[in-house]
Amino acid sequence: MKNTLQIAIDGPAGAGKSSVAKVLAKRLNCIYLDTGAMYRAVTWLAMQQQVPFDDLTGMDQLLKNLQLEFREEDGVQHLYCNGMDVTEAIRSTEVSANVSAVAMIPLVREAMVAQQQKIAADCDVLMDGRDIGTTVLPDARYKFFLTASLEERARRRYLELQQKGVSVDLEQLQRDIALRDQKDSQREVSPLVQAPDAELIDTSHMTFDEVVEKLFHKIAK
Ligand code: CDP
Repeated sequence: MKNTLQIAIDGPAGAGKSSVAKVLAKRLNCIYLDTGAMYRAVTWLAMQQQVPFDDLTGMDQLLKNLQLEFREEDGVQHLYCNGMDVTEAIRSTEVSANVSAVAMIPLVREAMVAQQQKIAADCDVLMDGRDIGTTVLPDARYKFFLTASLEERARRRYLELQQKGVSVDLEQLQRDIALRDQKDSQREVSPLVQAPDAELIDTSHMTFDEVVEKLFHKIAK
């Protein structure tokens, strides 16, 4: 294994991980891997192919035929799932509502973690997710656990969706996020938990730029 740079950013939904990670990865000149997008793509495909999540044979088959590819197009990272651009589709309310159920299937996690570790073996990477510091990259040189109050996380996600023209109810969104956090934290395999050696950063009262600067300086130092 090469001596690659590994940075892990974990935390609950809406803590700002992916927006921060994208900018940070560009500045540090390493690959950004949105591991949540991978679980979302598996969820999207299972729903598309009407494979019930508890049909383990069906899910196994789906995983065996799964091809995920991140492609940079006009400066924006797109995710292709079996040749289809699913960048937008995987952010739907339906996928968000089901992704935690899919992400708790051990078979799914094994397949995703194997792909993630393979990428990290060859390139400098910054990954964000739930189990990066604990399971995917336990030896990562830098580990951060980004969090913020539930209200603030819901507010950020609300603004993000509004900007995309998706209208949602703020209170409902807050309930959905709380439920997803609960499922992610309580599952048996690789639950959402702060790695003992990860640095906790509460972003509730920080601007986006402040978070990026803070992480950048810790790494660049
Ligand atoms: O962007 P958001 O915070 O809404 O979530 P995401 O990063 O897109 O992740 C979606 C879901 O995938 C999470 O709620 C987890 O259930 C699952 N996930 C996971 O189990 N492990 C990861 N490393 C990343 C995501």
